Amino acid sequence: MAEEAKNNGDTGAVVAAQSHGSVESAAVGTAVISPDAVQNPGLPPHRQRVTDLDPKKAKRAERTVYTLFYISIAGSLGAVLAYMFFPIESGELMAIRIHTMFVGLGMALALLAVGIGAVHWGKALMADHESIDERHPVPSDEPTREASAEIFKLANEESGFSRRSLVRNSLIGALIAFPLPGITLLRGLAPQDRDPVQLLKHTMWTKGTRLARDPSGVPIKASEVTIGSAFHVIPENLNHDDFAKLSLDERGGSDTLLDAKAKAIVLLMRLDQSDLHELPERESWSYDGIVAYSKVCTHVGCPVALYEQHTHHLLCPCHQSQFDVSEHAKVVFGPAKRPLPQLPITVDEEGYLVAQSDFHEPVGPSYWERLK
Ligand code: FES
Repeated sequence: MAEEAKNNGDTGAVVAAQSHGSVESAAVGTAVISPDAVQNPGLPPHRQRVTDLDPKKAKRAERTVYTLFYISIAGSLGAVLAYMFFPIESGELMAIRIHTMFVGLGMALALLAVGIGAVHWGKALMADHESIDERHPVPSDEPTREASAEIFKLANEESGFSRRSLVRNSLIGALIAFPLPGITLLRGLAPQDRDPVQLLKHTMWTKGTRLARDPSGVPIKASEVTIGSAFHVIPENLNHDDFAKLSLDERGGSDTLLDAKAKAIVLLMRLDQSDLHELPERESWSYDGIVAYSKVCTHVGCPVALYEQHTHHLLCPCHQSQFDVSEHAKVVFGPAKRPLPQLPITVDEEGYLVAQSDFHEPVGPSYWERLK
């Protein structure tokens, strides 16, 4: 059914023409009014709730609501107690898990209970009647707007905000300066007494450290690395007991084993020698086609975990940066801005792969690279 409708500006009547069906003529001009216009159905009949009809049920609903609120209080207190009794100062993974789990459970319980309680209160106990809020024009009427403008003008004159420019400008300056202490406090998130560049530049790799499989810690022999294979690698002896005995310097500046591991993690690959195009100054950094690169993406630090054997590309799953291992891990795609840092490697007398030294540049996102 083709139908057009338009407002008749003079009469306000709706003018409609239908290709078929009955229409009735209006009094004005050629206007016609459709007889089957949708009628306002109005509100459905009001249905009383069980809590309106039965005081016992209302009492029970009340008990449910305040019980839920008490449960919420218990959840909140539980979260505070969990924070106190399951601290994560030790930095151990299990301690972090327990802390997070109990604090999270307490907060979840508190939020859930208060939410359900509030909804139940509203639905079962609060007044239940329909009311119609008539629409009204949004803008104030002319006299009110004029009065408001008058008040602003008067306030401006009495306060001297426009007139006393020195006072006004110094107030603006004070308000701009006010958030600065809060921003300054963010400094507390940075390493307190250590240079972040040095901190990121050094990892646990030192001359002679064996390359070991992650997570088993089993050292890797050069003969085990076949062409096309890739290994996820950590320094040998990276366990809690040995780590605790190391000085901060030997830990690569990391306080916890997890931090140290995250910084030192490496990917090891073997390429056909003819595919490997090394920089002249790094020719001695590989061993028989085996190369090692930091696994920490130079974009924002995700683990670059995917190796494509045919293209020799490493892919970071976070934002799809790709690094070409055959071309000293240079960036071939994506938002990363610098190649992955290379770990110089060789073999020891038993044939195990070992580091020649630490990385020669900071691992991770590019920002620190600029401060070298
Ligand atoms: S963190 Fe790797 S691409 Fe963004």
